[in-house]
Amino acid sequence: MQCRSSKELNEFVMEARKFTQHGKVADYIPALGRADPDDLAIAIHYPDGQCVSAGDIQKTFTLQSISKVISLALVLMDRGFDYVFKRVGMEPTGDPFNSIIKLETVNPARPLNPMINAGALVVTHMIKGASVEEKFQRLLAFVQEMANDSTIGYSSEVAQSEFETAHLNRALAYFLKQHKSLDEDVEELMNLYTKQCAIEMNCLDLARIGMVFAMDGADPLSGKQVIPIDIARICKTFMVTCGMYNASGEFAIKIGIPAKSGVSGGIMGAVPGKFGIGIFGPSLNEQGNSMAGIRLLELLSKNFHLSMF
Ligand code: DON
Repeated sequence: MQCRSSKELNEFVMEARKFTQHGKVADYIPALGRADPDDLAIAIHYPDGQCVSAGDIQKTFTLQSISKVISLALVLMDRGFDYVFKRVGMEPTGDPFNSIIKLETVNPARPLNPMINAGALVVTHMIKGASVEEKFQRLLAFVQEMANDSTIGYSSEVAQSEFETAHLNRALAYFLKQHKSLDEDVEELMNLYTKQCAIEMNCLDLARIGMVFAMDGADPLSGKQVIPIDIARICKTFMVTCGMYNASGEFAIKIGIPAKSGVSGGIMGAVPGKFGIGIFGPSLNEQGNSMAGIRLLELLSKNFHLSMF
């Protein structure tokens, strides 16, 4: 799909790009450390099929934590509300995304929400399928359908790099297994989770997926309800309360758009009833959110009055 370049968005990108120098690319997954910190791109996808963009839109990136919203939608469709929320909670933590502390102090068997790593591991383990490969292919097909792009795949380099270094996620998974919240082999789960996080696309694809969430799970261009309305709403609510980790409160106040970030520098936004946003800017702030990406969203929200509050 082609995207029209927008003068206004180009100006926002020029302004926000200044902020890339104040952040740092993630390097705890070694393959992500090779990203160019100056990159910045944005695409906006409207329900009528129109698309506008600016910046380095040819760049591809991996979804990382953005995939947590998509796996949650799939698992809610696979298993239903009661089954899923018996195993993972609905409350923000105020802690970093990979923190283990609340597992020990609040409830060792039920992570507080699906957007922190502990919760996302439990969610990914609930994807239906007879093997890691089958589960991953189901998730990938779901992503491809929302993006309307059957060429989307995953970066085996990033997946392998995370698989080899995911000591903390393994620790979380073994902790959860000890408390009977996981019955799967931890290595198999890490294999699936790291592939899920390594699903790779450009901003345009991400904006189209954001548009499906913005339209309550409907794809107006195919006429299909890809995600049931109630599930799309649950996902958007988590994007508001936990989508930007321990910066979600400030983000809601300053920007007010349901959004989900990833440590690759991606941010997916879903402006309810209006459009989807895909952003890529790998220079991150302390909470692991795109430094310039947040500035871009702030400019967009202020100039176009996008806050939902
Ligand atoms: O589990 C991890 O550490 C990564 N694959 C994903 C983390 C992430 O994107 C958190 N984001 N801000």
